[in-house]
Amino acid sequence: MKNWKELVVLLIGIVMVVLVKKGEAAIGVNWGTLSQHRLSATTVVDLLKQNKISKVKLFDADPEVLNGLRGTHIQVMVGIPNEFLSIISSSIPAADSWVHHNLSAYVSTNPSVDIRYVAVGNEPFLSSYSGQFQSYVVPALLNLQQSLVKSNLASTVKLVVPCNADAYESSLPSQGAFRSDLTQIITQLVSFLNSNAAPFVVNIYPFLSLYGNSDFPQDYAFFAGTNHPVIDGPNVYYNAFDGNYDTLVAALSRIGYAQMPIVIGEVGWPTDGAIGANLTAARAFNQGLINHVLSNKGTPLRPGVPPLDIYLFGLLDEDSKSTLPGNFERHWGIFSFDGQAKYQLNLALGSGSLKNAKDVSYLPSRWCIANPSKDLSSVSNHFKLACSVADCTTLNYGGSCNGIGVKGNISFAFNSYYQMQKQNVRSCDFDGLGVVTFLDPSVGECRFLVGVTNSTTSSSHGFSGKWMIIWTLIFSGSIVILL
Ligand SMILES: *[C@@H]1O[C@H](CO)[C@@H](O)[C@H](O)[C@H]1NC(C)=O
Ligand SMILES: *[C@@H]1O[C@H](CO)[C@@H](O)[C@H](O)[C@H]1NC(C)=O
Ligand SMILES: *[C@@H]1O[C@H](CO)[C@@H](O)[C@H](O)[C@H]1NC(C)=O
Ligand SMILES: *[C@@H]1O[C@H](CO)[C@@H](O)[C@H](O)[C@H]1NC(C)=O
Repeated sequence: MKNWKELVVLLIGIVMVVLVKKGEAAIGVNWGTLSQHRLSATTVVDLLKQNKISKVKLFDADPEVLNGLRGTHIQVMVGIPNEFLSIISSSIPAADSWVHHNLSAYVSTNPSVDIRYVAVGNEPFLSSYSGQFQSYVVPALLNLQQSLVKSNLASTVKLVVPCNADAYESSLPSQGAFRSDLTQIITQLVSFLNSNAAPFVVNIYPFLSLYGNSDFPQDYAFFAGTNHPVIDGPNVYYNAFDGNYDTLVAALSRIGYAQMPIVIGEVGWPTDGAIGANLTAARAFNQGLINHVLSNKGTPLRPGVPPLDIYLFGLLDEDSKSTLPGNFERHWGIFSFDGQAKYQLNLALGSGSLKNAKDVSYLPSRWCIANPSKDLSSVSNHFKLACSVADCTTLNYGGSCNGIGVKGNISFAFNSYYQMQKQNVRSCDFDGLGVVTFLDPSVGECRFLVGVTNSTTSSSHGFSGKWMIIWTLIFSGSIVILL
């Protein structure tokens, strides 16, 4: 009898280990859509599947994206932009409507979208927002939770709040504390999360620490060991990620939630637009991070307990993101805007190295450049205008196109604008200073892009291409021979 009991205990133990193992850190990605060259949702969803990525975090509830995720078994976190927090916090009908149109419409219809989380706001506590969103967060959560209950979704969908790392601070991890202006709100937030068994979501960016502070030891940002470990009593920190993470753990403990599960909502490294933003560094950081987290070593304050999930930032480059934080903002993708892997990375999800997007339909191989035979002394207004709407971030100091000279600069700006205008002929005019070329003007690492069309099927593109050839033949009089 005793042995029998022991066997049961053992079996329960095994089952629990299996369950816990299943819940161990999983790698997901952030799928942002602030791009002038958006791939179709079908193409991106296929890219996710090819790479066996089964968790995505979105920043809104875009119908095209969510419809693309129907029936895929990809677990989704949808987002509510900060601008919506005010109305949702003050109006129950607004919260109900958001849940109805942006959640039930996908979760409770067939084929459904596997939405697990709603991110209520995005970094609403960022100090640069000067507090304009923070008072709405908890009231919005309470209204939305009631809406979830009414829609029968409270057991499947959890509310979370992706938090910027500047919500807490300290010189040593063990001294971590939330900003004093946030202590009360964060305590209410964490209590809410705790009562709904939801995790604390935080965005951690060692790149920004390095970018913002010339004294920051570079090797401490990566995972290959450092000459500048942080000694915190008995604990030694060899990388900024662990140090930051444990600062949060200490801050949570200080308000009474030492066991709060943590999800990394965003983490990554950009590849362009700043010194220190390059392919080698991005690969080293992301691969180091993945290996480190999946080793399940945890951190000194949470040994053996890695974060629940980690969402890399990001899936694709987004050339419409604000450059206020820096030109690197448009270059966080592990894939370029058109779904091509920028560097090799093993996501440890079983697909080996990164697989490129398939069937991407590009605009024709044409570029707009500065007309070499024209005097370009009067071009500066065109340059400014083009770069004010199209992306020229790689031209700046630290960017991959920074060394291409004055004429190169102008050509780059013209092309960026021309591709953004879907190669409309008139968009390469620039008062006669622009000219279309069929030779790729890219120089070295500096890539002059060709835009993509986001028609869902590449075959329709091929079809129109065929018709164009026939029309050309008709106009050149060779139709008779062809027929
Ligand atoms: C759904 O969310 C989007 C933003 O993500 C918003 O524009 C739209 O108004 C929302 N729908 C409702 C019904 O609130
Ligand atoms: C890439 O960035 C890292 C730091 O982030 C720097 O150490 C390295 O020199 C850079 N490599 C190149 C080729 O610029
Ligand atoms: C090219 O443009 C960038 C961005 O405006 C500027 O920083 C750089 O100095 C320019 N290069 C030349 C040679 O004018
Ligand atoms: C691509 O998709 C977006 C969003 O669905 C849409 O606004 C845009 O007009 C589409 N077309 C092109 C060519 O980008």
